[in-house]
Amino acid sequence: MEIRSDFLVIGSGASGLYFALKAAKLGTVSIVTKREIRESATFYAQGGIASVLSAEDSFEAHVKDTLEAGAGLCHADIVEMVVMDGPNRILELMELGAKFTKRVVNNVEELDLGKEGGHSKRRIVHAKDMTGKEIEDALLKAVDAEKNITVYENHIAIDLITHSKFVEQADEDICWGAYVLDKKSGEVYTFLAKATILATGGAGKVYLFTSNPDIATGDGIAMAYRGGATIANMEFIQFHPTCLYHSRAKGFLISEAVRGEGGILRLKDGTPFMAKYHPRKDLAPRDIVARAIDFELKKSGADCVYLDITHKDSEFIKTRFPNIYANCLSFGFDMTREPIPVVPAAHYTCGGVLTNDYGESSIRRLFAIGESACTGLHGANRLASNSLLEALVFANRASLKAKELVDRAVAVPPVPRWETGGAVNSDEAVIISQNWDEIRRFMWNYVGIVRSNKRLERACRRIENLKAEINEYYWNFTVTSDLLELRNIATVAELIIRCAMLRKESRGLHYNIDYPETDDKNWKKNTII
Ligand code: FAD
Ligand code: SIN
Repeated sequence: MEIRSDFLVIGSGASGLYFALKAAKLGTVSIVTKREIRESATFYAQGGIASVLSAEDSFEAHVKDTLEAGAGLCHADIVEMVVMDGPNRILELMELGAKFTKRVVNNVEELDLGKEGGHSKRRIVHAKDMTGKEIEDALLKAVDAEKNITVYENHIAIDLITHSKFVEQADEDICWGAYVLDKKSGEVYTFLAKATILATGGAGKVYLFTSNPDIATGDGIAMAYRGGATIANMEFIQFHPTCLYHSRAKGFLISEAVRGEGGILRLKDGTPFMAKYHPRKDLAPRDIVARAIDFELKKSGADCVYLDITHKDSEFIKTRFPNIYANCLSFGFDMTREPIPVVPAAHYTCGGVLTNDYGESSIRRLFAIGESACTGLHGANRLASNSLLEALVFANRASLKAKELVDRAVAVPPVPRWETGGAVNSDEAVIISQNWDEIRRFMWNYVGIVRSNKRLERACRRIENLKAEINEYYWNFTVTSDLLELRNIATVAELIIRCAMLRKESRGLHYNIDYPETDDKNWKKNTII
């Protein structure tokens, strides 16, 4: 089956839905999303969105904090543009119905701005500790009311349809859509569009321990790479310092906002330790806090450190963090009375599909927005709560550029249908679970918070073998969602390893004990693949 629309949006988190709403004013939009529509990293976002909204704050201060966290690799013009557009996007979300937490000062109601690591001012707009849910629900309500948008749930994009795939000697590559598997029927459909938007999120599932939901398998980055797009900075994987340490908690995040409200990291004997590592102590940028915890755990042999906010009023804790409080309690920890056991886990993919300031990739008619993109905002380390901000700002900008692509009379060329060849149903699905576990485990052990040349070489050898095995499987058996995701985490793992091997220095989130210094002379630049 062939499905045509002006815009194909792959992904239904903040970036995909916000783009779709804008694009629906210009033409028809298909949203394909691989699970139920709300399932996204966006839905689980806790802390909030960073934006300059108080008289005590300034654009200059937000820009400075972002540049400082980014350790020399942010693109200053992009940082400035994103920071200055922030208040407009927040206002629009509120117009769409998002209800952010407010407080009353001198009888006047105003937004309650939170604080997080690396921020010099209070500037985090939040809905208690469930900001993502509030945003996702507001966007979804608006999408539901839009006649020009058709949503395809449980549809997973397999690969992009690029000109060079079916035209020999194409002068430049153009994207005309994607092949998409309907998970229920098992059919592969051809989705054609004048502009294709990757809004597929990050790749936390490449690692054994992650705060990310199961959808975060880096599909968009892997598809773009296979399609020939430029990928950048994949070595900069952000590890969030504080995920709940419990065998069944599945990396449940304990928001940085807990430290923003006074939470203190302590060792098992109660000693606070962050003062040794940074003048901002527990609110230092994330790379520094995660590395400090990793160091303390390796030194003491302990399984976790502790996040202590028991000195705050218990009613305040329950009102400000109802979701975190309830979740911790369900695992037997009352955060109002005892410190929470925490460990770092993979959280955010700073690199991705390299784009310009309108979200355009190196392939014409292909955009990447949100966590799947590398826009230049985050550099070597993302500042807390700048991610949702980036997703919204770039979704809006991509829609401005995409307008030009549908305005002109463009004919999508005839495209070959998906060929199954001689593929048969697999009788050895165990290969998928085996390879899935193996990749995630060696990525955690060899390409984690602290890296070395030897570990990276080991990881490189492993991924080469596994990729060959997965590819053979891919070409011989009928595609399934699990197989597609496995193929994508293998590709993304390879990209992370290759970028990490290329960068012969330590900077931001990339720390290699064989090159412990930052080398501005040779490495103050993106890693490009
Ligand atoms: P997502 O919201 O992840 O959406 C991706 C979408 O793509 C999903 O719908 C998925 O199903 C779909 N998809 C993926 N692959 C395919 C495919 N092959 N075919 C079809 N569909 C596909 N950032 C902040 O700024 N502030 C915070 O407070 C914050 N808290 C966070 C808390 C947690 C627990 C996590 C995990 C992240 C947090 N982040 C936060 C990061 C932020 O939530 C994400 O970076 C952001 O939501 C990404 O939005 P997105 O639209 O790019 O992708
Ligand atoms: C958090 O709430 O700690 C997550 C914020 C973020 O990832 O930006």
